[in-house]
Amino acid sequence: MNWWQDMVCYEVYPRAFADSDGDGVGDLPGVTARLAHIRELGADAVWITPFYPSPLADGGYDIADHTGVAEDLGTPEDVDRLTARAHELGLKLIVDLVPNHTSDRHPWFQEALAAGPGSAEREMYLFRDGRGASGELPPNDWESAFGGPAWSRTGDGEWYCHLHAPEQPDLNWRNPKVQDAFTEVLRHWLDRGVDGFRVDVAHALFKAEGLPDAGPGQHRDPLRNHLMPYYDQEELHPLYRRWRVLLDTHPAPPGAVPPEDRVMVAESAVFDPERLARYIRPDEMHQAFNFAFLEAPWDAPELRRVIDGSFAVPGSAVTWLLSSHDAVRPVTRYGSPARARAAALLMLALPGSAYLYQGEELGLPQAQVPESRILDPLWERSGRTERGRDGARVPLPWSGEAAPYGFTTAPPDETWLPQPDDWAPLTVAAQEQDPDSTLRLYRAALRLRRAHPAPDPAAPPSWLSAPGAPHLALRRGDLTCVVNLDSRPLPLDTLGLTGRPVLSSGEPVTDLLPPDTAVWLTEGDPDGAHR
Ligand code: GLC
Repeated sequence: MNWWQDMVCYEVYPRAFADSDGDGVGDLPGVTARLAHIRELGADAVWITPFYPSPLADGGYDIADHTGVAEDLGTPEDVDRLTARAHELGLKLIVDLVPNHTSDRHPWFQEALAAGPGSAEREMYLFRDGRGASGELPPNDWESAFGGPAWSRTGDGEWYCHLHAPEQPDLNWRNPKVQDAFTEVLRHWLDRGVDGFRVDVAHALFKAEGLPDAGPGQHRDPLRNHLMPYYDQEELHPLYRRWRVLLDTHPAPPGAVPPEDRVMVAESAVFDPERLARYIRPDEMHQAFNFAFLEAPWDAPELRRVIDGSFAVPGSAVTWLLSSHDAVRPVTRYGSPARARAAALLMLALPGSAYLYQGEELGLPQAQVPESRILDPLWERSGRTERGRDGARVPLPWSGEAAPYGFTTAPPDETWLPQPDDWAPLTVAAQEQDPDSTLRLYRAALRLRRAHPAPDPAAPPSWLSAPGAPHLALRRGDLTCVVNLDSRPLPLDTLGLTGRPVLSSGEPVTDLLPPDTAVWLTEGDPDGAHR
């Protein structure tokens, strides 16, 4: 078994994690200084979202130099120090690779604009003539994931494709120069000692030949994503096979995992389980995010259907996540802290690996960011109807009674995004003191999870509850997890369970499991029981 098959990986969004130099923006030395928090939590790995030079049209996912370091975040040496400290603490480091698009400020795009239509420089991207009598209409009907057409027109009349913001032109992956350039990017970060990559929009790099129309209803039904001409093309797979060979063979510097232990995880918005499984065939990526789990409603039969579906392809490496920098925080999404805590115990009991997002372990709700401070391009692109993802990206509260809660020494109105006024009870320092806090729950759960491994992280859990039941009960080796999603208390003795409660997401559990509560039971030594 590989270490990543049941790892817990903690996602860091660096501008919102910890600020070391008092400018109000989180940075790399801030992350390094606080890595002990992640270690203490019990995670195995850290995935850090882009820290590369970026005009920040999309929170750093618009990259102007894939091997550089953003000035407000630090220097290349700061990355080395972060990597070294992570390894010293026994944490693996995964960095973000964003190959689908660049920033419009990237030299390649600037050169393409300057060189004009028909040039080799334009071949790095997807430039096309428009439709209509004078080319005034976009080349096809594709819509950007952020709303509006996926095309913008340049001064000389040509259009370029951007599946996200106009500041994020899509690269032409059929051009060998693009492929070669990214091989160098992968080599660069491997040489600097990273242990793996999270591959951004891994389903979108290649577009169907001829760029055909997508037809009405695109982006409405995620289950149809794999049918879109800009997603899930066959040509992705030979590319990922080549990257896998590189990961498996490129020498590792001291401190990093050996090549055979590296991990590459696809952010692939392909929801059809069989199509998603193609990204994680044995010679392609190691893992793919399981967004179906994150998007499932708080409903026992539905969650069970999604969990079983996640194991539909035998031997595949299963992942779970409840939050990310793109999702509404689970406390808000599920409607209560109780449900979010119960969902965490469900996720952490499942075989496979779990991805946590900074602040999830503190039970942070989605913050209300005032309109004047919204940064997410979704806001403007949606005609100011969708506030976007900033509410999950406000700086973490570390300590103290008022904003900026130890995040920075800058004044509270100068933090990168504003923090709510009522987060004093949610700081790391406050929660460390409180045995009932969400932080203590996560720490206890991660410790118990490690002490009670799933016998086979690629095999589905054995269910102790019936498929249509309003609760879920499953076994993880010698640990049992019961989650009550019903509105009535669940008498545990009706389930015929042996073992005794070692961890509860709510009040200590006796014979009745309250609504929206999860409990873990074990038969042997409780080994680090929380309550
Ligand atoms: C991924 C990132 C998201 C970004 C998008 C475009 O989905 O997680 O934050 O906006 O890619 O790069």
